[in-house]
Amino acid sequence: MEVYLDNSATTKLDNSVLLKMINFFESDYGNASSIHFKGEASYNAQEKARKEISEILNCEPKNIVFTSSATEANNMIIKGVARANKTKGNHILISSIEHPCVLNSAEQLKKDGFEVEHIPVGADGIIDLEILEKMIRSDTVLVSVMAVNNEIGVIQDVKSIAKIVHDKGSFYHVDAVQSIPYLDIDIKDWNVDFLSLSAHKFYGPKGVGLAYINKNIKIEPLIVGGGQEFGFRSSTYNTPGIVGMAEAMKIAYGLEREDNLKRIKEMRDHLLYRIQNEIPEIFINGSLSRRTPNNLNVGFKGVEGEAILMDLSSKGICVSTGSACGSANLKASHVLSGIGVSGYFIHSNIRFSFGKYNTMKEVDYVADCLKDTIERLRKFSSVKSV
Ligand SMILES: Cc1ncc(COP(=O)(O)O)c(C=O)c1O
Repeated sequence: MEVYLDNSATTKLDNSVLLKMINFFESDYGNASSIHFKGEASYNAQEKARKEISEILNCEPKNIVFTSSATEANNMIIKGVARANKTKGNHILISSIEHPCVLNSAEQLKKDGFEVEHIPVGADGIIDLEILEKMIRSDTVLVSVMAVNNEIGVIQDVKSIAKIVHDKGSFYHVDAVQSIPYLDIDIKDWNVDFLSLSAHKFYGPKGVGLAYINKNIKIEPLIVGGGQEFGFRSSTYNTPGIVGMAEAMKIAYGLEREDNLKRIKEMRDHLLYRIQNEIPEIFINGSLSRRTPNNLNVGFKGVEGEAILMDLSSKGICVSTGSACGSANLKASHVLSGIGVSGYFIHSNIRFSFGKYNTMKEVDYVADCLKDTIERLRKFSSVKSV
């Protein structure tokens, strides 16, 4: 049996999305900047996609900038806003559990003279709003706190964060990559200035993402060239990707959403139940109640996460340690250390991330295999588990 429980890393392309995209490879392949009929067909499809996406996110179409990924969107926002608003100040605040593309974008800004501070999170993975408020200074240009964490699935109070940041006179960016379809993203209601998304996290194609940008705030483009995307992001339009992203978003928030969320939660809770009842000495990383229903991040005392991952992989199961960018990099997870996990516990976790194509039968197979894997690995472990 093959089981894919790594849906936070990426998802399988929805077949309806693929069918929508094919036309823009086969027939309407014109460059959306060209003024002939083939270019016009691409342009019109792309602008329709922009409008559909803006309606779902509740923002103006002109505020959406298509990018190649969320990594690019986050780089553009963090660096572009900081650099264009230097007169406002040189202090940047980001949460300590951000994705590496946010952390490293901010890190690069240090070379330009910016001061970067990390906002701590509690053991549950949640930002303390009072601490946040105290950390924002008069020279804080930008605050970046993600909506949903990719490793532990915890959900931040985006609306309250936006209010605090704005009351203090700073700008707010939210990385919402792991939010679809779990949160109702509403840009006007959330009142954020910048937001980033990536299509491949919600059954859309890889290689396309977006940045929502408040155009009343100055932002320096990251990629310059022919001036596409209102001059904010040059490069030939990825029309098939953009059309695919809109379709994927419509499906994610469409008729199947409620049923998917319910099934995904049932499967996640079933695996959790089986782990808690059949495997001793485990611990759950991050808050269970303030978490998206697709995520389960569990530590197994006395065993290396990577060893569990590889053993499960040999049984046809895909999971992740969520601790590093790849199995070649065994660096401890900054998210787990951010929530206070330490010692050998920090290297013993597995992230199970569920998706709409999973079944309960698969979950039972994973629980059976996991029990066997942990029992066997613990026999060889130098850390005595009981
Ligand atoms: C929270 C978060 N932000 C950003 C990214 C980067 O997205 P992309 O793969 O589109 O570059 C990811 C991907 O894992 C993510 O989980």
